[in-house]
Amino acid sequence: MNFNSHENKTIEDFGDQWLKYTDNEGYYGSRELFSDILSPFMTPDEIRGCRVAEIGSGVGRIVNMLLQAGIKQIIAVEPSQAFEVLSHNIQEPQKVILLKVTGDQLPPYGNLDFVFSIGVLHHIENPVPVVEAAFKALRPGGHFLIWLYGKEGNGLYLTFIKPLRVLTKRLPHFILASLVEIMYWPLILYIKFCHRLPLPLRGYMLSVLEKMSPEKRRLIIYDQLNPEYAKYYTRFEAEKLLSGGKFENVRIHHRHGYSWTVIGTKPLI
Ligand SMILES: C[S@@+](CC[C@H](N)C(=O)[O-])C[C@H]1O[C@@H](n2cnc3c(N)ncnc32)[C@H](O)[C@@H]1O
Repeated sequence: MNFNSHENKTIEDFGDQWLKYTDNEGYYGSRELFSDILSPFMTPDEIRGCRVAEIGSGVGRIVNMLLQAGIKQIIAVEPSQAFEVLSHNIQEPQKVILLKVTGDQLPPYGNLDFVFSIGVLHHIENPVPVVEAAFKALRPGGHFLIWLYGKEGNGLYLTFIKPLRVLTKRLPHFILASLVEIMYWPLILYIKFCHRLPLPLRGYMLSVLEKMSPEKRRLIIYDQLNPEYAKYYTRFEAEKLLSGGKFENVRIHHRHGYSWTVIGTKPLI
């Protein structure tokens, strides 16, 4: 694997994280959340029988969602130590090819119906080679669907989280986990206030975070504070990632007012 320094550290950070948070229980790993992630571009039923890849599989949450949707075969790419946990978590191993490589090393199969990358490209400083690899792996007419952190809708959150991350991404696990515990209770209170007031990130709090188990809400806080590199994309940057990478019919959706789902199609000729 050919890592640059940010990439190396981000992958190490995720490896450590996934050795602590190993399962995909509850809403976090559910078909309901998968439908929400794919919406408004497709439903899980539309990918039944397809051959797909997922770039940045973590501990297999999306891989298992894809399997439950009736996928024929999936190439799961995960470069970190999480690979061992991923192999253990997969529900139908006979349908999965596991590759312990970075996204830019996805082989140029040229026959995949879909490539997915959920919550990954915003952790890669230069994602262009990954987008190029996804393009080459798809068949003509195949689709690349990505989900990214958004800048728009996160203004207040970013003024708070950006300076905090300078410190937290350097903390050892037990200190970071204690900090997460301290932040957890104000978050629960914030979710309760969101029921009554039009507060920032209300859509995300009520449609996603509130549905998670306490353990997964803690993981989500940890996941915000832990990785070395995280970028929050503007609408323009998110769209450009795929349209600049030869994809056509690029469509974008502002998911729950805080993130971007983008889909593009590999031209037929
Ligand atoms: C936030 S996790 C998302 C995991 C999974 N897609 C999900 O939604 O549960 C990001 C994952 O991307 C992986 N990753 C980081 N850099 C990568 C790279 N250059 N190529 C492929 N995966 C990468 C990390 O190791 C981590 O498991």
